[in-house]
Amino acid sequence: MIHIAIFASGSGSNAENIAEYFRGHADIRVALILSNNPGAYVHERAKKLGIPTHTFSKAAFDEGSAVLDTLRAYKTDYIVLAGFLLKVSKPLLDAYPRRIVNIHPALLPKYGGKGMYGEKVHRAVVEAGETRSGITIHYVNENYDEGDIIFQASCEVSPGDAPEEVARKVHELEYAYFPRVIEAVIKSQYSLNPFSLPEKEGKEG
Ligand code: GAR
Repeated sequence: MIHIAIFASGSGSNAENIAEYFRGHADIRVALILSNNPGAYVHERAKKLGIPTHTFSKAAFDEGSAVLDTLRAYKTDYIVLAGFLLKVSKPLLDAYPRRIVNIHPALLPKYGGKGMYGEKVHRAVVEAGETRSGITIHYVNENYDEGDIIFQASCEVSPGDAPEEVARKVHELEYAYFPRVIEAVIKSQYSLNPFSLPEKEGKEG
């Protein structure tokens, strides 16, 4: 069984959607949800889903060892960032090469980088008069939103669309594609050597 850990800083609607998608999956499951924000709504969602959560400070995240211990305790194979605000630190990048995937709510390389998060991104898109926006799913490297792009999908931005409307359209794309792209990434990496798939665990695994 491949174990995913999801990192989320806020509402966690993507985290929930991903966990639902993999519920009952033969080879992949969401084992853990982590957050830097103890007040984030993602904790409520995790509770309802029966998925354990772990909260850490920015300092602990940057230093890495406690977060890595937790990830290892849950036998984490892949990390998914779903609305996660902090920059991923070197210890995590080294421990999970090409195994950390992020979603960004715009068509990178536009509207990315430090501070470009959620609502701010959609406001910038509307203010620039863009006619399209969308999602970018990419591997994570040491810079914000600069890792290799895995997948993009776009939607129309109509004249008069408020940032909230763009957010709604982008969220729809996220829900439709993010879980399937995660599954494809994992399967493509394991299909190079199908015998390397970790052993299945017990019934509850
Ligand atoms: C999502 O739209 C995600 O793409 C975005 O935050 C939102 C989180 O929503 N991520 C970023 O902006 C990262 N720079 P959610 O908490 O409901 O899943």
